[in-house]
Amino acid sequence: MDSRCEFAPIAAMSAAMVPRPYVVARRWNETADTFTFELRPARDVRPDAPPAATAAAFRPGQFNMLYAFGVGEVPISISGDPADGERLIHTVRTVGAVTRYLGALGPGDPVGVRGPFGSAWPVDDAEGRDLVLVAGGIGLPPLRPVLYQVLARRERFGRVALLYGARRPAEMVFVDELRSWRSRLDLDVEVTVDRATESWKGSVGFVTTLVRRAPIDPAEAIAMVCGPELMMRFAALELLKRGVADRRVHVSMERNMKCGVGLCGHCQFGPSFVCRDGPVYPFADVKDLLQVAEV
Ligand SMILES: Cc1cc2nc3c(=O)[nH]c(=O)nc-3n(C[C@H](O)[C@H](O)[C@H](O)COP(=O)(O)OP(=O)(O)OC[C@H]3O[C@@H](n4cnc5c(N)ncnc54)[C@H](O)[C@@H]3O)c2cc1C
Ligand code: FES
Repeated sequence: MDSRCEFAPIAAMSAAMVPRPYVVARRWNETADTFTFELRPARDVRPDAPPAATAAAFRPGQFNMLYAFGVGEVPISISGDPADGERLIHTVRTVGAVTRYLGALGPGDPVGVRGPFGSAWPVDDAEGRDLVLVAGGIGLPPLRPVLYQVLARRERFGRVALLYGARRPAEMVFVDELRSWRSRLDLDVEVTVDRATESWKGSVGFVTTLVRRAPIDPAEAIAMVCGPELMMRFAALELLKRGVADRRVHVSMERNMKCGVGLCGHCQFGPSFVCRDGPVYPFADVKDLLQVAEV
């Protein structure tokens, strides 16, 4: 046997463990605690940087491990357009050491990138069917690549609905894009907040209430749900109540991660590893686990 073949999987795994050098090209705030940044291979911006870092192709729903030098590494979903081979976009809520460090970076600052990793939203399976996207808070960024792909070939899908819920109006991300999506006649966009402010003229209540009236044919529709676990569980149960089959409802799970490639076991979720078998799962496969607090 050719020894190169024997070692090929090990070599591929080792390569997946090495962060590639990127730099921040642009960053902007979405809300008080959430920002989006665009990363580019370091050589595009700094010709003296190490070679071999190109923006990798990804599928909607996949994530990268972002490495903040000297601080740590975190899994972050890719929130940009899968058709854009140049820019790598991530939207991050600052909650702890690594995300705070990433949020303080500016143009030219380095970030290590491993990935893309994990399973994807089944966009191709939605062709010819109605599609409903249900997002809560920071759950919209991992779904945005789906919208980009669907809108690029809109004629292949049935009715498409985006239902988005945030705690307060000030916590909504992608506000300008939401406005432009709302103005389209081929997209149903409904937005709600848990707590309104005086200037808020829209819907008030949990995003699950929007599921009840979403303009879809439940017998045929595919649903993709992303947000806090409790929100995903209740939104999925509401979809089931409307008659959407549990295998056609998909959710995206989060667990603490270290390796991102199925080696360390940090992200174990029942019998699976979220980094390798998820983060996107059919609700049918995880609904029992979702009833148990920390599995
Ligand atoms: C597949 C995947 C995709 C993700 N995509 C995004 C994304 O697109 N944008 C984004 O902002 N975040 C995303 N996250 C969550 C992100 O990875 C965590 O917020 C980050 O690891 C926190 O690291 P930290 O060092 O800043 O904070 P830490 O100091 O590690 O944690 C700060 C606080 O956040 C809690 N926390 C940490 N990680 C998680 C988690 N995974 N779920 C729930 N609570 C957590 C901790 O318990 C602690 O209370 C994703 C997670 C996974 C697994
Ligand atoms: S993060 Fe190591 S197995 Fe998933």
